[in-house]
Amino acid sequence: MLDINQNFLKLPGNYLFSTIAQKVAEFSAAHPQQTLLRLGIGDVTQPLVPAVIDALHAAVTEMGDAATFHGYPPDQGYEFLRSAMAEHDFASRGCDISADEVFISDGAKSDSGNLQEIFGPTARIAVCDPVYPVYVDSNAMAGRAGTFNENTGTWTDLIYLPCRAATGFAPELPTVTPDVIYLCFPNNPTGATVTRDELQRWVDYANRLGAVIVYDAAYEAFITEADVPHSIFECDGARTCAIELRSFSKTAGFTGLRLGATIIPRDLTRGGVTLHSLWARRQGTKFNGAPYIVQRAGEAVYSEAGRQQTAAQVAYYLDNATMIREGMSGLGYEVFGGINAPYVWVTAPAGMTSWAFFNHLLENAGVVSTPGSGFGPHGEGYLRLTAFGARESTEEAMTRIANV
Ligand code: MLT
Repeated sequence: MLDINQNFLKLPGNYLFSTIAQKVAEFSAAHPQQTLLRLGIGDVTQPLVPAVIDALHAAVTEMGDAATFHGYPPDQGYEFLRSAMAEHDFASRGCDISADEVFISDGAKSDSGNLQEIFGPTARIAVCDPVYPVYVDSNAMAGRAGTFNENTGTWTDLIYLPCRAATGFAPELPTVTPDVIYLCFPNNPTGATVTRDELQRWVDYANRLGAVIVYDAAYEAFITEADVPHSIFECDGARTCAIELRSFSKTAGFTGLRLGATIIPRDLTRGGVTLHSLWARRQGTKFNGAPYIVQRAGEAVYSEAGRQQTAAQVAYYLDNATMIREGMSGLGYEVFGGINAPYVWVTAPAGMTSWAFFNHLLENAGVVSTPGSGFGPHGEGYLRLTAFGARESTEEAMTRIANV
């Protein structure tokens, strides 16, 4: 009889956003008259920009003509998109990344979950706490996390890097040596950032110990401050210790279109093998590429019009973030993030847990949020609000919260 992957049975409950969706569906069924305002999952609401729509139309037309039709894409993605990323995301910031170090994918969620397949079964994994749950759950599924302790809300074999308000939610260097360190800046969920100098410390640390940093830069487009790095490859020595994840979801509104990339420098080797070659082998075997029309849409994001239009859309969401920050702060809440990130991290009223605060806003204001404890034990006592709503919904959410 098949022996199933027992590691799946160790996972507590469902994926965080599935649990929230279920709770919200139950609430809606019980209160059909209540309109809900969704400041929970970080899903965009504004339409794709005109430059992207034009590229999609043109690519669809190409697909309808035998002379310009495209079948399977190249394993690593089309050269036109990899080159555009190498130029605009990296060369323009002084980062030494070539087009053949870019692997195009269907998004950073799948890449961040799949990447662990190229790490050995006993690799020690370090994660921030709180953390985007995909890094944790995907390693737990692979058996690297040990067992889950319901009392502490932690996995026995993971190394946790607590992120506290006192240090601006920047993680502390671990006391146990990790093999892989997941970092995400601007951070999901706290909206915190690190400066270039602070990130350099992590790069130096990883190079010193032989650890690999998986750097999730999904929210880099939201950076407004000059000393915050947009890529880990802005740091000296990152080519020998870092992998970077990139996403079009939040930058250009592609959550429904699906497009991302993983950057693996050829200088990154462990045990005499390049991680680039392992990921190429993995993707060649298991992934057939992002659709041609979507890669053309991604290329359009880097056109002059595309850059202006997506920057305007990011600014729109950042204005929402400011409204949430100022609104919550004006009501007496302690708030973090929302300056270089589309997430605002709010301290729950004294004595209220994250889930109690979540229920309070859902039941009394019809506002959906994300409880901080869903991201890890150090998220307890906080709530995440997303700035990806429409302006009017965000305004109304703030009005309703003010009235509860
Ligand atoms: C979030 O709300 O944390 C994100 O939308 C999740 C994701 O990007 O997968």
